[in-house]
Amino acid sequence: MRLVLLGPPGAGKGTQAHGLSKQYHIAQISTGDIFRQHIKQNTELGKKIQVYLDQGILVPDELVNHVVEVRLLQEDCKNGFILDGFPRTIPQAEALISMGIDLDRVINVDVPDETIIKRMGGRRVCPACGAPYHVRYHKPKHKDICDECNQPLIIREDDQEATVRKRLLIYHEMTKPLIKYYQSKNILLTVQGMGDAEEISEKIIEALGENA
Ligand code: AP5
Repeated sequence: MRLVLLGPPGAGKGTQAHGLSKQYHIAQISTGDIFRQHIKQNTELGKKIQVYLDQGILVPDELVNHVVEVRLLQEDCKNGFILDGFPRTIPQAEALISMGIDLDRVINVDVPDETIIKRMGGRRVCPACGAPYHVRYHKPKHKDICDECNQPLIIREDDQEATVRKRLLIYHEMTKPLIKYYQSKNILLTVQGMGDAEEISEKIIEALGENA
């Protein structure tokens, strides 16, 4: 199964991708998580991209495309994958085609901007595995500790309200056109991303089942 999760920042793509990768035994590929690991490890790529992430703007297509192309060649992607946060522009979608990738479904998680701004203030993430939590909606078993890695959770630099608003503007301008793009290819499924995360996950699995 080759899936893409599309949606604004904070729509719940990471939350849903985590569950879907376990459900279908496929690799979860988050370009945001890959970039944050590079920054943490201070790699050459990390040094180049830090400014984009800090400001909440998109990393240039050629850098992202290369990272994804390399990642998709890894063994764990042979059975399928779920791309979380890629593609985010039409040129990135076209690059995926040039890589020979034929997607099965693109799941568009739809959430209004104001809900996102309220949500993002409460997000906490694991610096090791990238798993997202929320102080109200998705609490870890032990306060501020990742359920899977036992690492203390952190607040992402780009979750400040001004940066979230900028990321939303960029989403509307650069990423939202992908909804029509994938609609025209007949592979788009739209799911309302409001309400309980587990119910949303069930809706996605049901929609994928009907369309498999
Ligand atoms: P990235 O890490 O991909 O950030 P994003 O797309 O902005 O998405 P987020 O990770 O912020 O949110 P999400 O939709 O995964 O939501 P989550 O599940 O965490 O990218 C970061 C940066 O990297 C970009 O700004 C850019 O600079 C760069 N980048 C990455 N990919 C790129 C690309 N392809 N091209 C160019 N640049 C790129 O949920 C959010 C919160 O809500 C959590 O606290 C969660 O617990 C909670 N939550 C989830 N579901 C629900 C629910 N149903 N109800 C209530 N709360 C919920």
